[in-house]
Amino acid sequence: MTDPFRSDALAGTTAFMAGATSGINLGVAERFAELGAKVYVISRSQDKVDATVSALQSKGTDAAGMAVDVRAYDAVEASLKDCRERFGKIDFLLSGAAGNFVAPALGMSPNAFKTVVDIDLMGTYHVCRAAFEHLNAPGASVVNITAPQAVKPYIMQSHVCAAKAGVNMLTQCLALEWGPLGVRVNAISPGPIKDTEGMRRLAPTPEAEQHAKNAVALRDFGEARDIADACVFLATSAGKYITGEIMYVDGGMVMGDGGMGQVQG
Ligand code: NAP
Ligand code: COA
Repeated sequence: MTDPFRSDALAGTTAFMAGATSGINLGVAERFAELGAKVYVISRSQDKVDATVSALQSKGTDAAGMAVDVRAYDAVEASLKDCRERFGKIDFLLSGAAGNFVAPALGMSPNAFKTVVDIDLMGTYHVCRAAFEHLNAPGASVVNITAPQAVKPYIMQSHVCAAKAGVNMLTQCLALEWGPLGVRVNAISPGPIKDTEGMRRLAPTPEAEQHAKNAVALRDFGEARDIADACVFLATSAGKYITGEIMYVDGGMVMGDGGMGQVQG
């Protein structure tokens, strides 16, 4: 068994990553490439896909991708088939495409609410559903990217809370169904991650940024690399007995503030 902490721990493996052309998921793609994986990315924008594939290839990675909206099941299926034909069976699957905007429930149309549910929840279902036949089982590892909104209610995030709660439950149902077939299915819940579109939308001012940091036990934002390394852990033999887990890589954010103000005495 390959030492999971070696610098070539992912050599010879194939990773398919949905929504990996910017932000956190791009960081995961870059890290997998660094550790030797062949990487296939999808997202809506052809320009973003091309830029990501070129950047990965310029570092010597076997990379490819396709412009796909995860809401379109047939297109998701086509990209997985293309990945399998180019690189062989898929060892690691990341589903991280998502949409977010800040709006109260009464300040969005039914279509606005549905849009986020369609991208986050239906998109994750589409990616997992279409990927299964291409997974290298037994041994394949699936990671869905969820969010603290899945387990904590937030104002102006009803759409994301509902969608990501669904992602958590889908993850655990698939873990039960696919465990006997040798496929592990986990979710990673990032805390606030610096330099990301998500945090630009949720904390657009220095005051909002400070407020967000104060909500984290470690009092700082995380980095895409923190999420990437957790994915590596779950992709390798280090994580081989972990399934159905919602892994919080969030500086302690999901615990809340302890309810007593500052520590005294
Ligand atoms: P981001 O940079 O906007 O990344 C979103 C990615 O998904 C992009 O590659 C985007 O590319 C793609 N995408 C969006 N809609 C899509 C669709 N319909 N079909 C296919 N691809 C689509 O966002 P991020 O802030 O890094 O967030 C990444 C993930 O982490 C999300 O799942 C988010 O919920 C989660 N998260 C983020 C934070 C944070 O602090 N940022 C915290 C907790 C959880 P295209 O525009 O080309 O489609
Ligand atoms: N407040 C209220 N409603 C909003 C909104 C906002 N800030 N932004 C979009 N909407 C509504 C639109 O008005 C539309 O509803 P309508 O048809 O009833 O008018 C609906 O949401 C869909 O918008 P549209 O722009 O057509 O969707 P899209 O599929 O092109 O884009 C989004 C999806 C809206 C989620 C867009 O923000 C996006 O592409 N996000 C990806 C990047 C991202 O969010 N990154 C952070 C991840 S955590």
